[in-house]
Amino acid sequence: MKRILEVAIKTIKESGNILLNYIGEEKEIELKGISNLVTQVDKLSERHILKSIEENFPDHSILTEETGFINKNSEYTWIVDPLDGTTNYAHNFPFFGISIALIKNKEIILGLIYDPIRDELFYAIKNEGAYLNDRRIEVSKTESLENSLISFAFPYELSLEEKNFIPFINFSSRTHGIRRTGSAAIEIAYVGCGRLDGFWAKKLKPWDISAGILIVEEAKGKVTDFSGNNIDIHTDNILFSNGKIHQEMIKILNLGKIFIRNEKF
Ligand code: IPD
Ligand code: CA
Ligand code: CA
Ligand code: CA
Repeated sequence: MKRILEVAIKTIKESGNILLNYIGEEKEIELKGISNLVTQVDKLSERHILKSIEENFPDHSILTEETGFINKNSEYTWIVDPLDGTTNYAHNFPFFGISIALIKNKEIILGLIYDPIRDELFYAIKNEGAYLNDRRIEVSKTESLENSLISFAFPYELSLEEKNFIPFINFSSRTHGIRRTGSAAIEIAYVGCGRLDGFWAKKLKPWDISAGILIVEEAKGKVTDFSGNNIDIHTDNILFSNGKIHQEMIKILNLGKIFIRNEKF
């Protein structure tokens, strides 16, 4: 694992430098769908990560956002988001990252999320804890939803009904606040280190969440679906928290209508 971790850290930081080098430069923006942007830098970063994995671990399979699945029939699969927060990046809004996970059979054994702007590397190794740079991290100790800061994400192309702003409204009067930064991977990492107490999302992809799942679990947090069931990297609706506010979040996520604060439900 030591060599795998070293290669993964070197690679994610090199891709971080690619992202930094193009800030302020003209971006070639393509649309994958309405408001679903991809830039040449997503592709450059991805190409770099693919090249590094293929050179160092030629037998491993790889799933990436922009290229798809490269199947080597291996028990190992790398899952790569070369730029999480493309819309932010395209607008020079400094909140984006890179996410890389390694799966052995069906288990996530390594997860890294790198924020090049702040030079913050979040990573976790299965059964060996979660780290921010070289410091061990844990989720927050916030005991109740009313003292929490939470965030959320959903994909670009959902209908208003699918987006479902009811939880947003119900949470907004029952927490210290809600954030939505535009980089799901970084927000999940923030649950891992206690900057956020919870994060909920719909229809994220394996490359958005795989590294974050391991980071939050190894940071002693909790990850389930909106009903409290165990998840995998394909789960449709996903909830990350410090564990202590998890049940309260599940309750709010399942309210079908808006309840004003103090109203009984
Ligand atoms: C997106 C971001 C965003 C989330 C979207 C993702 P991308 O990833 O994580 O926060 O709301 O669902 O697709 O496309 O910038 O890698
Ligand atoms: Ca994308
Ligand atoms: Ca993403
Ligand atoms: Ca991406």
